[in-house]
Amino acid sequence: MYGGGNVFETMKATALADEDPILLAAFEARIDRGEKIEPTDWMPQLYRKQLIRMIEQHAHSEIIGSLPEGTWITRAPGFKRKLALMAKVQDEVGHAQLLYSAAETLGKPREEMITDLINGKSKYSNIFNYPAFTWADSCFISWLVDAGAIVNQIANSKGSYGPYCRALERICAEESFHLKYGHHCVIHLATGTKTQREMMQAAVNRWWAPMMHFFGPSDKISVHSEILMKWKVKMASNDECRQQFLDMYVPKIWELGLTVPDENLKKNTVTGEWEFTEPDWEEFKRVINGDGPCNAERIAVRRTAEERGRWVREALLAPKAKYVAPLA
Ligand code: COA
Repeated sequence: MYGGGNVFETMKATALADEDPILLAAFEARIDRGEKIEPTDWMPQLYRKQLIRMIEQHAHSEIIGSLPEGTWITRAPGFKRKLALMAKVQDEVGHAQLLYSAAETLGKPREEMITDLINGKSKYSNIFNYPAFTWADSCFISWLVDAGAIVNQIANSKGSYGPYCRALERICAEESFHLKYGHHCVIHLATGTKTQREMMQAAVNRWWAPMMHFFGPSDKISVHSEILMKWKVKMASNDECRQQFLDMYVPKIWELGLTVPDENLKKNTVTGEWEFTEPDWEEFKRVINGDGPCNAERIAVRRTAEERGRWVREALLAPKAKYVAPLA
């Protein structure tokens, strides 16, 4: 079912061969029973490594994801929209904090994660490497990118690693507000003037391909799905999440009189599955490997924030006595 790939298959076999088979069997039995694995419990190194990779990438996506929308706070139409968008962006940064904390329980320090992000070693979601040219782009992100994130995260919040699942539950509660806010913004534009409708349609056209990529490569070529699903880290495959998103949101997009820029998109009434043009996976690979339209800009902003905030972190970590005013 899953693509896997020979290199990963060899790595996985080698990594699991080094584990104590009795401990491994007990660990897998706990997962099969639906128990949560907690930070101090025994776990195979590969489970730890995969979780760090996935949670860290997720944390980076939240923090980088706040950038395209963040640029619209000062330009959002009206005070209420500005206020709501500012709160949303703050939430997204808060999600990153929750996720970095969850990843830290597995042994990777936060500083190392941030360093790996700004040095280009760690990945983050493809979709945040595209520019938000117009207010409608910001509305698309708030509604449909957050909708896609919820589909994935509600599934994974029922997964096996306690700290990640608890973080996801909290995140999904907040994301559902974002979704309502985003839907409200899109309805406003889609039912507005001709210019507003055209602006919204242009945003859907621009963001559709990255949105289809967002759920990850198809199951046939996904590298990590098999082991992540076996260990209940991922509770739905990339294709299952993509299908669920199409099922829930394409009718809502059509309802608003908007079109989806894929002439092959239709629901197969026999299989119940959505059919669509195969996404361009070469573009996806280029973007996630650092060569998308905004990768350099996103990382540069993050690097600047890191450098400008260094003095605050150093002051907070310095021994208290150093900063106590001398007694007169
Ligand atoms: N953006 C960037 N990279 C992606 C991606 C995306 N939308 N989808 C997949 N990839 C990367 C994977 O990280 C992996 O790269 P790596 O081996 O260098 O780490 C590679 O493409 C192969 O994909 P796959 O084997 O399918 O990865 P996966 O099993 O980890 O599935 C996700 C990808 C995004 C579905 C999964 O990691 C996930 O559910 N993450 C948590 C949610 C999240 O991060 N959401 C982001 C936005 S809020």
